[in-house]
Amino acid sequence: MRRYKIAVIRGDGIGPEIISEGEKVLEAVSEFEHFELKWIEYPHGAEHYLKTGELIGEDTLKELERCDAIYFGSIGDPRVETGVLEQGILLAMRFYFDQYVNLRPVKLLEGVGTPLAGKGPEDIDFSVVRENTEDFYVGIGGRVKGKGKGKKREELELVRKLYHIKFGLDIETDADELAYQIGVVTREGCERVMKFAFELAKEKGKKKVTSVDKANVLTQGYGFWREVFSEVAREYPDIDTEFNFVDAICMWLVKNPEWYQVVVAPNMFGDIITDLGAMIQGGLGLAPGANINPDGVSMFEPIHGSAPKYKGKGVSNPIATIWAGAMLLDAVGEKIASERVLNAIESVLKEGKVRTYDLGGNSKTSEVGDAIVSEVKALL
Ligand code: IPM
Ligand code: MN
Repeated sequence: MRRYKIAVIRGDGIGPEIISEGEKVLEAVSEFEHFELKWIEYPHGAEHYLKTGELIGEDTLKELERCDAIYFGSIGDPRVETGVLEQGILLAMRFYFDQYVNLRPVKLLEGVGTPLAGKGPEDIDFSVVRENTEDFYVGIGGRVKGKGKGKKREELELVRKLYHIKFGLDIETDADELAYQIGVVTREGCERVMKFAFELAKEKGKKKVTSVDKANVLTQGYGFWREVFSEVAREYPDIDTEFNFVDAICMWLVKNPEWYQVVVAPNMFGDIITDLGAMIQGGLGLAPGANINPDGVSMFEPIHGSAPKYKGKGVSNPIATIWAGAMLLDAVGEKIASERVLNAIESVLKEGKVRTYDLGGNSKTSEVGDAIVSEVKALL
């Protein structure tokens, strides 16, 4: 019997209720495909932080390292200052496990409406490969004067020098109160995520990879990104390539989503365009994401947040989370089970009887989970 150890972090807000539905579906499919899932619960999130002061510690991370995958709900809570949980838990895991790919499928499933007039499932079907460990997410930043006083001396030293070179002024005496944030892209960081994008295109029989940047303004960082992309592209002569500026792709994704097959983007831009992607595929309730380290521990989550307003109401759409669960199965090697879950999601949506409020229905979260379980069984 194939066995997988899955760490579960339900997190905050609607996290627990949507993860429960994901577990339900994965359990059901595991029975039919004859493998076993062992769920290991972790309490991390706002509640745990407020009680214990722990975000996610080294010990926990080391434990998680022994799992086959991490299934993650959502974090964010109005009682905790914005950014604390995001950085201390979610980003901490992405960095610790070096999950350098954030794979986000943008696929309009049949039976789901898109706000794009005249577009259907045949027009909206691409993957965004978001770089997940670099760029403006490296966490180098600080403030001078005001709240920034006395913080991060070493970084301040660096910025003092840069400020002096650029403006010929002293940052602490001449500058107004200011904040800075530095983005870093490395050759290795670019190469590995770009190769992943090309390999994905090959595997899925796609013909084109689009690279996103803003090399016309942020000429250093994204100029370098573009350079590396051109080099990597040479290793894949059968796949067409193109560059899109990030502002332009926001426009084209709305007007001509059918142009896109695989899109590779730096972290920050990838974050932004995948929210756009989520909307054109029917909303955040339908958008999954996989934080992947192909040689390590990967983490699967819906891309939406914790929606504290809906916490405990049992009305949120669990499909993004269930779809993320399907991606988890694919990643651990259970391809057939993964497809079965995706097919079950598709048939429930196509039938259209059981839907949560975001899709114009009034079904409960658990009813959607149940309907998908029934389909998993029916599709045997
Ligand atoms: C996402 C989220 C996160 C990100 C936040 C919560 C840190 O927006 O997964 O897209 O910016 O990556
Ligand atoms: Mn985001």
